[in-house]
Amino acid sequence: MSNLVNITRRDNPNTIKLRLNQNVHNSILDYVGNTPLVKLNKIPKKHGVECAIFVKCEFMNPAGSIKDRIGVAMMQDAKSAGVIKENTEFVEETSGNTGIAIAFNAAILGKKCTIVMDEKNSSEKVDTMRLMGAEVLKLKGGEIEVARQIKDKKPNTVVMLDQFVNHNNPRIHYDTTGAEIVSAMEKVDMAVMGAGTGGTISGIGLKLKETYPDCLVVAGEPEGSIMFNKFGKEHPFLVEGIGGHGNLIVLDRSIVDHFEDVTDQESFLMARELAKEEGILCGGSSGCAVAAAIKAARRFNIGAGKNVVVVLLDGIRNYMTKFVTDQWMEARLFMDPPERTMRRFIGAISKDSLRNFATNPLKLPNSTTEEFNFEDPVTKHLAKDCYTLAENGKKGKPTIGLLSRILDITRFVIVGEEGHDNDTDSDYFIPKGVVTGSDVLQYIYELRKY
Ligand SMILES: Cc1ncc(COP(=O)(O)O)c(C=O)c1O
Repeated sequence: MSNLVNITRRDNPNTIKLRLNQNVHNSILDYVGNTPLVKLNKIPKKHGVECAIFVKCEFMNPAGSIKDRIGVAMMQDAKSAGVIKENTEFVEETSGNTGIAIAFNAAILGKKCTIVMDEKNSSEKVDTMRLMGAEVLKLKGGEIEVARQIKDKKPNTVVMLDQFVNHNNPRIHYDTTGAEIVSAMEKVDMAVMGAGTGGTISGIGLKLKETYPDCLVVAGEPEGSIMFNKFGKEHPFLVEGIGGHGNLIVLDRSIVDHFEDVTDQESFLMARELAKEEGILCGGSSGCAVAAAIKAARRFNIGAGKNVVVVLLDGIRNYMTKFVTDQWMEARLFMDPPERTMRRFIGAISKDSLRNFATNPLKLPNSTTEEFNFEDPVTKHLAKDCYTLAENGKKGKPTIGLLSRILDITRFVIVGEEGHDNDTDSDYFIPKGVVTGSDVLQYIYELRKY
């Protein structure tokens, strides 16, 4: 029972001990850094590893990611160098989190900023930046060049802090993120994290290696990236913020002892597992890093009594409409739709009983190929960006159950056939038809008639 008498009792044995910080700060920027380092209590055991895994929760930074640190560091450095003037505007190329960190600083300073990012990155990141007043350009390739052109057009006004070359990027991780880990841990046997610019892994890795000379530094490499996996096959992947192929100035490759390849599915399932099992609400690159840590712990026999630190770079806020949503995972065949989703709606017919019928959706009414011109540029764009289902996908013919789950989060799904062209060594998808919610309804209606 809760009443005022209980509230004022100070010796209540059930009182949760909160770490209260009662200082008053002049700016939210004062809360950047000093993030918690938390032990994983279930996941290592569940995956059969005996070392202790501690996660550095960088998503607890006020604007949501580890990039808050470099945002503040690069800004402070620019301020000390006298680069920031009355009419200064910022431009930055980013996968989103550095953009959020710059927009956050620019909002506080009352300055304009333009963020240039790859279109693969989430709309949640874009919306967060726009909310803080940033102008966001989403491009497919050539982001750095566009950002530099914006700077070069107005060299006296526009400042590009440039996380890809700015020494404050790795430096702040050496001075703060790495130093915080060192102050909390007597010994670290292995540290694992992703790399985008390479600033995080270079700065933290150097600090840890100086302190614990035997510490292994491992990168979580998304499958399809050839940043470390030089003999891997390059292909697109969905995890954001990490991987790539370029020569990176702030990445010190001599710090990285090893990489582990991690698929999109492994990364997102691990991020979801961190939420379910440990209550840790982190993003896909963090899932990638934890999955890589488990693989590397097995590979290098990092067993009982050893300590592993994994850096979790951002949180689920950035991915609410992506891997956090069940249907998004199902649409990419990373998870199966739940059983009996449609029970309430259609009574006795469960997804499983529909599975036998559901099928080539071309047979559904109103979805004949002739109604569409797939060569039209707008259609081409749509076919590239919209949800697709392959009749011959890795799990075989799609079911109506799966289709209806995807239609929860989109208005239509393009159905087609996927394959691989050996001559060009590339994957293709041939669209064949379009299905909408009313096609599914019609299908169920027809099925129920007989
Ligand atoms: C979610 C996420 N993870 C990892 C990284 C990689 O960090 P770094 O650029 O320091 O290598 C980034 C970089 O933007 C990121 O946004």
